[in-house]
Amino acid sequence: MATHAWTSICQNFVHYKRCYDVFEKRSGKIDLYNNWAKEEFSRVAEDICGRRRNPGIRNPICTLGIGSGKGSFEMALLKQLQPNFPSIHHTVVEPCEEFISHYKLHSVLENVQYDWQLKTFQQYMQDQECTSNGRKFDFISAVNSLYYTGNVKETIRSLIDQLTESGYLLVVVRSEKGAGFRIIVNFPELHPAFKPSYFISSKTVSKAIAEMGLTAKVNSVRTNVDFSCVFDDNDAEGDDLLDLFTGVMDFRRTAPESLVERVLKFLRQESTPDSESASATDVVNTSATRTNTSATPTTSNV
Ligand SMILES: C[S@@+](CC[C@H](N)C(=O)[O-])C[C@H]1O[C@@H](n2cnc3c(N)ncnc32)[C@H](O)[C@@H]1O
Repeated sequence: MATHAWTSICQNFVHYKRCYDVFEKRSGKIDLYNNWAKEEFSRVAEDICGRRRNPGIRNPICTLGIGSGKGSFEMALLKQLQPNFPSIHHTVVEPCEEFISHYKLHSVLENVQYDWQLKTFQQYMQDQECTSNGRKFDFISAVNSLYYTGNVKETIRSLIDQLTESGYLLVVVRSEKGAGFRIIVNFPELHPAFKPSYFISSKTVSKAIAEMGLTAKVNSVRTNVDFSCVFDDNDAEGDDLLDLFTGVMDFRRTAPESLVERVLKFLRQESTPDSESASATDVVNTSATRTNTSATPTTSNV
């Protein structure tokens, strides 16, 4: 198979943010995730609150977001913690300035003290080592960002190491059922655009958590992406959505015509109303408390 010298969309954060904005707009992701936070995460928040009565847990609560983006989902999660923890210290690790600027404008909450870390997770970890800052967190979230943080097992291990003894880790990643994951599986031609960690799914993450002797709970969240714009050659939003799903910058114009056609055919099938998969992501929750139970994911479809 001839390999192509792709430019990954991750090499240009401005372009990446634009593509992600289109995805959010055409998938209803923000409302869906926010509802999930209200309906499901509120229970986790209560659980964190219950655990916090244990001796040795500090005030204020410390939280960490990895690849926080524009912060809309993080804001929804923190809102659920606020009734129990009026004072929150929240660290944001996000390498893209455009995302952080948007976050500061639209997603900051009162009574939350923010620590803005404009850097990648890898840089953040390196800096932590240099400064020997062993801060521990009561809650860590990594939402659709572990594709970029290097070896997934090592990332999970270092995130869990940063949790307090009864802390919680919440990871959102692709489900293997979703179009976002299957497009990668179906089109090996695209792989050179990705780093190996791009291939992770909720299965990989749950396995890494289980290997650390922890239990993981998995919820499926299904977004219905409106792909109609990608079938129009002259639709700029269609180009951006195509770039996000293939991971390739300016995919429509730089990829061989036959590959573009096959990718469009794949997305057309995904767009049929009876398609099961649309774009599924799984929310993987784990608490730092080690148990002897093996991981038994529970799944609910939204
Ligand atoms: C798919 S977006 C998700 C944003 C946000 N968490 C959300 O759900 O809306 C991925 C995020 O990861 C960030 N990112 C990219 N490389 C990263 C890295 N090496 N470390 C941490 N974050 C990274 C991107 O800038 C982007 O904000």
